[in-house]
Amino acid sequence: MRLSRYFLPVLKQNPAEAQIASHRLMLRAGMLRQEAAGIYAWLPLGYRVLRKIEQIVREEMDRAGAIEVLMPTLQLADLWRESGRYDDYGAEMLRITDRHERELLYGPTNEEMITEIFRAYVKSYKELPKNLYHIQWKFRDEQRPRFGVMRGREFLMKDAYSFDVDDERGQQSYNRMFVAYLRTFQRMGLQAAPMRAETGPIGGDLSHEFIVLAQTGESAVFLDRRMLDLPVPGEDVDYEGDLSGIVADWTRLYAATEDVHDPARYERETAEADRLTARGIEVGQTFYFGDKYSRPMKANVSGPDGVERPVQMGSYGVGVSRLAGAIIEASHDEAGIIWPDAVAPFGVGIVSLRPGDAAVDAACERAYAALTATGKEPLLDDTDERPGGKFATMDLIGLPWQLIIGPRGLADGVVELKRRRTGERRTLPLDEALAAISA
Ligand SMILES: Nc1ncnc2c1ncn2[C@@H]1O[C@H](COP(=O)(O)OP(=O)(O)OP(=O)(O)O)[C@@H](O)[C@H]1O
Ligand SMILES: [Mg+2]
Repeated sequence: MRLSRYFLPVLKQNPAEAQIASHRLMLRAGMLRQEAAGIYAWLPLGYRVLRKIEQIVREEMDRAGAIEVLMPTLQLADLWRESGRYDDYGAEMLRITDRHERELLYGPTNEEMITEIFRAYVKSYKELPKNLYHIQWKFRDEQRPRFGVMRGREFLMKDAYSFDVDDERGQQSYNRMFVAYLRTFQRMGLQAAPMRAETGPIGGDLSHEFIVLAQTGESAVFLDRRMLDLPVPGEDVDYEGDLSGIVADWTRLYAATEDVHDPARYERETAEADRLTARGIEVGQTFYFGDKYSRPMKANVSGPDGVERPVQMGSYGVGVSRLAGAIIEASHDEAGIIWPDAVAPFGVGIVSLRPGDAAVDAACERAYAALTATGKEPLLDDTDERPGGKFATMDLIGLPWQLIIGPRGLADGVVELKRRRTGERRTLPLDEALAAISA
């Protein structure tokens, strides 16, 4: 992409309404535009990041055997009456009436709808297990939308739903999602710790919140810091095999959010030197709730014994749009965002120090073509802005590499290569710089 033709409305000033770094930086880097409280337009740079996050989530869901669908944002109120949640959900639900006076709602989650789809087609244990997921916008009329995309009203969520014939297999499906979550967040450059979570009215005791540690997190968390050193399963993890050992390793050490924190137990189980009190951002939650929806909604399957029973379900959410903010909270400095390679909107920023200079233009074009060919997705700053402004913008938008090309360097046969994360700068011939970026 050439910056002269792109749409990147960066802000020089800090927006007054932004209280935390990620919100401030997303607005300043031209990623986001607030359209109403908690409702945002994703501008081109932001949308590229959102799509990268979404794609990692999708790949890890697929790897774990989940199957992608797409359910609508609007749902019938009657569906939610079947589970009893239409009245329970309260003011967070956005209720809509169509021209025929039919009651609809903008989905805050999809347990009812997926259960309705499942029961229409699946009748036998032979078709199980199944796990269906979608990545779709949700609406929750949050009392206090704030911190930009971290707590929006309209937000993008990945939600998966597992279906099994019995509890034991339901637990295995839960374990697959648990492991997929460890992998998903690691691929985005995040350290996310699974923590025991409140099960609330849903019942059962199997739920984990995946929490990224950050000073600006909304909840206090208490954990055994040794959890942060546990190895995350690799891509070759066998989702058909027994994952209970991995889940046990990750759930053995104490880790809890303030809602469920048990100080006595914490002190008993965790040596003082290992206790870590911090703040955290919830980026995902896994839940096993058995027949909570299948029983009232009569989603039954016949077992090997021919007897019909409610299918056993779990649900698994990831805050896709919240993750864009969480990644920035975990990775930024004074100058701006520092994108992990896997979610960076562009891989490299090429800074032309003198557009119009024949040698500089030629070198920039050669770099642009080479980096495009190797899939590095370069953003070429070919605008007339002063070098100082260009450097500030590059640091602000946080691309992993900056390749700086100017007439003086070229006269000596060199360009400058900067790694955003470390600030390390090297002066070297263009071909060597291109090789270093692709290494
Ligand atoms: N208002 C929101 N804005 C952005 N992301 C959200 C919002 N609410 C939930 N999410 C994301 O969706 C995921 C799954 O939704 P879930 O129903 O578990 O949310 P939740 O527990 O109500 O979230 P929270 O406790 O933060 O309100 C959450 O882990 C979070 O990452
Ligand atoms: Mg949650």
